[in-house]
Formats: sequence, C-alpha cells, structure tokens
Amino acid sequence: MKIIGTGAVHPTCAVSNEMLEKFLDTTDEWITERTGIKERCVISSEKLEDMAYEAAKRALEDANLTAADIDFLICSNVVNEYVTPALSCIIQGKLGATCPTVDINAACAGFIYAMDIADDKIKCKKAKNILIVCAEEPSRMVSWQNRSTCVLFGDGAGAAVVTEGDELKAIRLTTSSLTEVLYYQRHLEPTPYINKDENFEPLVMKGREVFKHAVSSSCKDIRRLLSQTGLEPNDIKYYVLHQANKRIIDSIRNFLGVDESKVPHNVERYGNISSAALPALLDELNRGGKLQKGDKLVFSAFGAGFTTGACVIEWAK
Ligand code: COA
Repeated sequence: MKIIGTGAVHPTCAVSNEMLEKFLDTTDEWITERTGIKERCVISSEKLEDMAYEAAKRALEDANLTAADIDFLICSNVVNEYVTPALSCIIQGKLGATCPTVDINAACAGFIYAMDIADDKIKCKKAKNILIVCAEEPSRMVSWQNRSTCVLFGDGAGAAVVTEGDELKAIRLTTSSLTEVLYYQRHLEPTPYINKDENFEPLVMKGREVFKHAVSSSCKDIRRLLSQTGLEPNDIKYYVLHQANKRIIDSIRNFLGVDESKVPHNVERYGNISSAALPALLDELNRGGKLQKGDKLVFSAFGAGFTTGACVIEWAK
C-alpha cells in the first residue's frame, strides 16, 4: 500500500487561550506550559460532514483521482450529529462516489486502524484505491465549564488516498480495555421500561493516567516497528505523532533520542483533533514541500479504549 494524496480542513473559529481565560478559571501560562496548546479551531457555523467532504475532495485532487476511481471509503469518527446513517455514507453522497463505505471508531488511533483495514483490502484485491477520511468534533464531547478537558481539544478533518504499492513497511495495532481513564457516554432516549440509573455526563478523563499510557505505548509501538524493519531511529525523516499535548510529543521524542527537527507538530495551533490529527499534519508536510520520495515516516497514535496504532511508511509521491 502507498499514500498518493492528502487533504485537510480546519474550522474557521480559532479560540485562543486568552479567549478561554474570559470564562474559565485558567491562564494562557498554565495551558501553554502543561500542553503547548496556544489555540484550537472549533466548529461554529460549519457542519462536520462538509469539512469531511472538503478534506476528501482535496485528497482526491492531490492524488489525481476522481470519486469514480474510489473502490472503498473508510471514515474514522468518534461523534457527529448522526448516529445513523454513518458519516461515510453522507461523505460518499456529497462526493458522488458509488463505492461501499464504512465508519470505524478507534478513537484518536483511527487513522492507523483505517490504514490497516485498507492495506488488507488492497492485499486481498477487494479494492485498489481507498479513501480514508478522519472527521472529528471532540469539542462537542467536553463540558466547556471543565477546564481540565475543554482546553485540550479542537475539531477538524483530514483525509488520505491510498492505493496498491510496497511502501507500507510495517504496521502495529493494540487494544487494551482500559475504559475508565477516558470515556464519553451517548445520551439515549428514555423508554417506559428503563428502570436503571443512567447518568450521561460530558467527557471524563484521568489526564495523568492517559499521559503515562500515551508515552509508554507510543514508545513501545515505535521501537517494535523499528526493530521489525531493521531501521535506526535516525533513519526516519519524520515521526508523525498524535497531536494531543506537546509534553507527550516531547517525552516520546526524548525516549527515542531523536532531534526535534524530526518531530513536526501543530498541536499549538489546533489542539487535539482526535483521529484527524495525523492526516492533517501529514497534509501540512505534504503541501509544505517537506516530503521527498523515499523518505521514511513513522506514524503513531493512541486514544480512548485504550487503542494504539503505529506504522512505518515510505513516502511515494
Ligand atoms: N487551567 C488551570 N488549572 C488547571 C487546568 C487549566 N486548564 N486544568 C487543570 N488544572 C488544575 C487541576 O485542577 C489541578 O489543580 P489541583 O492541584 O488544585 O487539583 C492542577 O491543575 C493539576 O492538574 P493535573 O491534572 O494533575 O495536571 P497535569 O499536569 O496532569 O496536566 C493534562 C493535565 C490534562 C494537561 C495532562 O494530564 C494531559 O495532557 N494528559 C493527557 C490528556 C490527553 O492527551 N488526552 C487525550 C488522549 S487521546
């Protein structure tokens, strides 16, 4: 499998730390020091499906393909306005594609899970060109009165087109059921028969535990992949890591012993946009002319579940 196109869209409403100071007991200094985040873009007038469609269109244009060339569409999403139909069905209609589609929810690691599914479909010749769209609005899962969570997240969409090739060198997924450290329950309609306690609350997160799991699992995944592919940490051009917190990114970089220049980041501008973070950062590198054919890239992400995913891929464009 190889990546032949990328695209991304961020909402227009940029919320700075100073804007949060106006209604939360927080400071720019605290947020910057603990997370590296200076601002995040959150949905205001946009609809997530429109952003997802636009990111997908940009990725298709970058790949020189049209919607008719796509054999399968995977959308990675945690929440959106619809429980059903799947977001992928809505995106398919907007694009005018006719291929089958599916939504997956592997939280912030969703892009790597989608790549793994795409790789299998391509290998068994069920599809040639696959569109992956990661579209997320975590700003709608948090309480905006909770300073511990709402400062961390932003919304956005990132997409990639993948096709047949030898460029995916190794991929690794893990899931370990650790549900109490990070969860968000869906509000369900009442019925005349429900007689159990149901407390639907905004996103719950034990930040310190998530931090520790994130750093240790990402380092473990990356080390395994490097040893599997016989690569040294410095053979990698860029480590495209999940953009949750600059301190998490720095800790992973320090454990791996690689230079800052190898670990690009945009968390300071967008906050944590869940599974859209990896394709959006990749798109920034691609469109910014930072990638050359043959460059080796590591992707690594972690999220609620606890899920992790990582891969080594050679840049093919
Ligand atoms: N502004 C000011 N103070 C804040 C604050 C904010 N926005 N958020 C929390 N605090 C306070 C807490 O209330 C606490 O105060 P207390 O000591 O009086 O109780 C204090 O800061 C320390 O809180 P703590 O949670 O221990 O801080 P921390 O150093 O662990 O940083 C996170 C908190 C959330 C930034 C950090 O744990 C983190 O990034 N975890 C990972 C989260 C993540 O990546 N989630 C998504 C995974 S996909």
